[in-house]
Amino acid sequence: MIRTFRLSGTDLDVSELGIGTWGLGGPLEVGGYALGWTAVQEEEAIAILREAAERGVRFIDTSDMYGAGRAETLIGAAVPRTVAVATKGGLLPEFLPGTTTLRRRFDAGHLAAAVDASLRRLRRECIDLYQLHGPDAATIRAPETAETVEGLVRQGKVRYLGVSLRGKSVTHEEIEACAHAAWVRTVQVTLNVFRQERLPDLDWLRRAGKTPILRSVLGHGLFARKRSAGEFGVDDHRSRKVTAASIAASAMLLDRVATTLGAEDVASVLLRWARAPDVNQIVLVGVTRLAQLNATIGAFEAPPLSHEQLCAVGALGRELSSSGLDGATPHPGAGRTQTTDGK
Ligand SMILES: NC(=O)c1ccc[n+]([C@@H]2O[C@H](COP(=O)([O-])OP(=O)(O)OC[C@H]3O[C@@H](n4cnc5c(N)ncnc54)[C@H](OP(=O)(O)O)[C@@H]3O)[C@@H](O)[C@H]2O)c1
Repeated sequence: MIRTFRLSGTDLDVSELGIGTWGLGGPLEVGGYALGWTAVQEEEAIAILREAAERGVRFIDTSDMYGAGRAETLIGAAVPRTVAVATKGGLLPEFLPGTTTLRRRFDAGHLAAAVDASLRRLRRECIDLYQLHGPDAATIRAPETAETVEGLVRQGKVRYLGVSLRGKSVTHEEIEACAHAAWVRTVQVTLNVFRQERLPDLDWLRRAGKTPILRSVLGHGLFARKRSAGEFGVDDHRSRKVTAASIAASAMLLDRVATTLGAEDVASVLLRWARAPDVNQIVLVGVTRLAQLNATIGAFEAPPLSHEQLCAVGALGRELSSSGLDGATPHPGAGRTQTTDGK
């Protein structure tokens, strides 16, 4: 059984495993850049979403950006009302002039239209959780932002609100802004063995009444099995990101986890490392095949890792990143301390 819990400050019952749908959205290209994933057949995508609901998943994460709305449309066709759906808005499929930074808009006009469009695609009267997609600290703190998003709740279009922070550059200031914003119920951040820098913030967020949502725990799949740079299609965002060094780092991680823990299924170990069965948080996993869904559910139904195993996997990730190895995206990895939950 996948554990469920009541999301802090809400009446939503959610599962600790959430299914992420960036991959199911398929390709998205902006200015010649692949920002999506290779297409998944519609029948398979719908089967994955239905099976997830049947097997006890009670949280699906999406965005109006994933496949330019395709992921929301699939959810609208396949996901029953018993599953909480969390979408996002505010990120636009266009670059700021002269950059490869995506434009963001969190003003009332844009968000009102974005929410209406998401509701149509999701075929729902109300969005369970609406997350701002990558706002900075100033936007999270701004009284106008609170007024805008609370207006969406008052209009009955959205039940609860959250923030999904940017991947590479998330700062403690942004986390702090989320902790202090009364309207924020959930805070989504990247967390995996090579990206542990936000771990110390999670307890703090929980004490502030916010539920952490952790994503990219398999490093976009790079830590799930050994990879080669050429295997990703040109429409897969990973084709732009992987380097010989990141492939080598991931391979070393996989070997070391397998030997240290005597584990055959390293992906399962990494998923269980991200779990924290004693506290309330959601771990998102992006799945694009039914077999992956089954393996992922298996990892969430398996006994948790022991404290010693948690520490060993966490230490391995820190050791590899502090020696300059990083399986997905560069970040300052050295010198982090161990947290109370052993990671
Ligand atoms: N800014 C944001 O708000 C933001 C950013 C990133 C992600 N997200 C959310 O978080 C979700 C998850 O993040 P993610 O997709 O980046 O990363 P992820 O969950 O770390 O990686 C997903 C990939 O891992 C592989 N995989 C999944 N389950 C597996 C299993 N049990 N065994 C082996 N391999 C497995 C698959 O890769 P292959 O298909 O290649 O085998 C899959 O495509 C997204 O779908 C999205 O909902 C949000």
